[in-house]
Amino acid sequence: MRSIHLTRSLTVLALPLAVAALVAWVSLGESASHADEGQALVAGSVCEAHELKARAAEDPHLSVEIPKEFDKAFPTRAACLSHAAAEDPDAPGPLQPIQFSHKHHAGTFEIDCQYCHSGTDVSPAAGVPSVELCMGCHSQFPKEYDQLEGIRTLKQHWETKEPIQWEQIHRLPEHVQFQHRAHVRAGFDCQRCHGAVEEMEKVYMTEDTIWWPWGLPSKKLEMGWCVDCHRENGASQDCYACHY
Ligand code: HEC
Ligand code: HEC
Ligand code: HEC
Ligand code: HEC
Ligand code: HEC
Repeated sequence: MRSIHLTRSLTVLALPLAVAALVAWVSLGESASHADEGQALVAGSVCEAHELKARAAEDPHLSVEIPKEFDKAFPTRAACLSHAAAEDPDAPGPLQPIQFSHKHHAGTFEIDCQYCHSGTDVSPAAGVPSVELCMGCHSQFPKEYDQLEGIRTLKQHWETKEPIQWEQIHRLPEHVQFQHRAHVRAGFDCQRCHGAVEEMEKVYMTEDTIWWPWGLPSKKLEMGWCVDCHRENGASQDCYACHY
């Protein structure tokens, strides 16, 4: 993306110069038809090529140049876009070591939450998937996908056998007991507690402010949030259910 922006800002800089040249040419009685020459936007990667092709399809006057080595189908435009969205620092949620998009995997491709978070039903921690699980799919992808930084990072971890240090988002203090198992078995969807994760390019903790019976606001993962739902659903409110 960066070099498109660069090209664009160079174009902006070049514009007054081009106008000046145009005026000079016209006043010399020459044709202005060559004034745009040398202004073509040049793709510097497959992802940039996808964007330039899309822009040129909308605006036939736009002059674009796609070098042969970047005129490829893979990585797909969808993969390029979701990779970029997952590294957007302005989107809510922490930046992860790999540009991994839930929207792309769990939304578009409908990969089941439990396929990757299989621990939810059997262990206290839902866990995040291993590098092996990612590679089960990604080792079968065309090599061109290595152009994406996230895929390269994934493969580096695969080679060095080092787990990925994902930034943790939902984390309870040590003194609190929580098991996914009981909650999932009681029939709650993941989304009930985590929001529409399949629509998130980058996971973040969703807002959910609840007013306790006695009027104190509590947010997600705070005690009031747990107790409120327990009260509504007839689950235990005994201190020792959640604190040993
Ligand atoms: C069940 C198969 C499957 C698994 C498991 C899987 N992926 Fe993917 N991944 C895909 C598909 C399909 C795409 C989209 C390809 C496209 O759109 O061209 C993709 C795209 C990506 C991309 C590029 C687009 C983006 O969203 O950033 C990255 C990076 C990525 N995966 C990382 C991972 C990581 C890390 C894991 C493990 C946590 C993982 N994948 C697990 C199937 C999988
Ligand atoms: C292809 C594998 C994959 C699928 C499918 C997937 N996840 Fe994830 N999930 C991950 C990875 C990798 C992380 C850690 C990086 C991140 O936060 O994006 C994660 C993180 C999370 C987190 C935050 C963990 C924390 O630290 O608090 C939640 C919540 C979550 N996923 C829920 C879901 C839900 C709900 C679904 C289904 C709608 C789902 N995931 C589908 C791989 C997956
Ligand atoms: C009743 C609310 C609730 C439901 C339902 C729920 N979660 Fe969670 N989830 C939590 C809480 C609370 C935490 C923090 C747990 C901790 O710190 O011990 C958490 C943590 C996580 C994490 C962080 C990593 C980890 O190892 O704990 C992932 C991933 C996750 N949930 C995925 C899911 C998925 C996938 C589902 C659906 C199958 C799901 N959750 C359903 C409340 C819920
Ligand atoms: C969306 C509603 C909901 C939320 C939010 C919720 N719980 Fe629960 N929880 C339940 C229900 C319902 C049960 C009873 C399940 C059963 O008995 O089968 C339960 C059961 C439990 C149990 C006892 C089950 C067992 O493992 O033996 C503990 C401990 C617990 N919850 C802790 C928590 C904590 C801690 C939080 C907040 C971080 C929390 N819960 C948030 C609905 C919720
Ligand atoms: C349904 C689960 C649940 C029940 C029942 C519960 N707690 Fe908590 N408690 C939590 C969670 C989650 C936290 C951590 C989040 C927070 O600090 O709000 C917490 C935190 C606390 C803290 C530490 C607050 C702090 O500032 O660090 C105390 C003290 C506490 N609980 C006491 C109690 C007492 C006393 C009871 C019984 C009347 C009780 N809890 C019942 C879930 C529960």
